[in-house]
Amino acid sequence: MFYEEGNRPEILAHDPFKAIVSPRPIGWIGTKGEDGSINLAPYSFFAPLSDKPKLVMFSSTGRKDSLRNIEETGVFTCNLASHDLLHQMNASSAPAPYEFDEFGFAGLTAVPGKLVDAPYAAEAYAVLECRVVEIKPLKGLGGEASQNTMIIGQVVGTHIRDEAIRDGRLDMAKVRPLGRLGYFDYSESGDVFELMRPTWK
Ligand SMILES: Cc1cc2nc3c(=O)[nH]c(=O)nc-3n(C[C@H](O)[C@H](O)[C@H](O)COP(=O)(O)O)c2cc1C
Repeated sequence: MFYEEGNRPEILAHDPFKAIVSPRPIGWIGTKGEDGSINLAPYSFFAPLSDKPKLVMFSSTGRKDSLRNIEETGVFTCNLASHDLLHQMNASSAPAPYEFDEFGFAGLTAVPGKLVDAPYAAEAYAVLECRVVEIKPLKGLGGEASQNTMIIGQVVGTHIRDEAIRDGRLDMAKVRPLGRLGYFDYSESGDVFELMRPTWK
């Protein structure tokens, strides 16, 4: 099957775009507003962009509380979601009013960041504390506005829970990070295997 964008065949009742580009990690974004309210929400338009310096991005579909807080403070935390926090992650995506604390609602412990004035979840196996580098409204080929805004942050501090470390590495088989697969599907990284890259003589 091939189809040109805008001409999706009827057999594909639902747009497969986000399923095609998957599994996507879930950046669980912790922020604080100028008024002191705290916020937590999952974003699967989320990716690492560079490792020197360490840059991550997430993308907000429309104007959401996380974007508003980041515009106000210039900082956020990126909590990584593992299989054991599936329901907490999902609960935190509720379209709650601005002042509402999704950490408490999801049964998570909000802890102030060490280097940035944004909260993180004590239960997350890893957390990146980030300062904003760029907030970029996205557009398409013809310059048409996307409804998405990309937020790029630079990692200035990293938290890792001690029990997630084994033999000098993050124990991914134990942590089993959640992946978003499109539609309402998820994966939880069951089988972890190692594969070395080929060499070239
Ligand atoms: C697994 C998952 C991934 C999500 N990814 C995104 C995303 O990439 N962009 C987005 O705008 N909303 C995404 N959402 C929806 C937001 O989490 C939801 O709109 C939330 O209420 C936004 O919270 P905020 O207004 O506090 O920022 C996702 C929800 C779930 C459950």
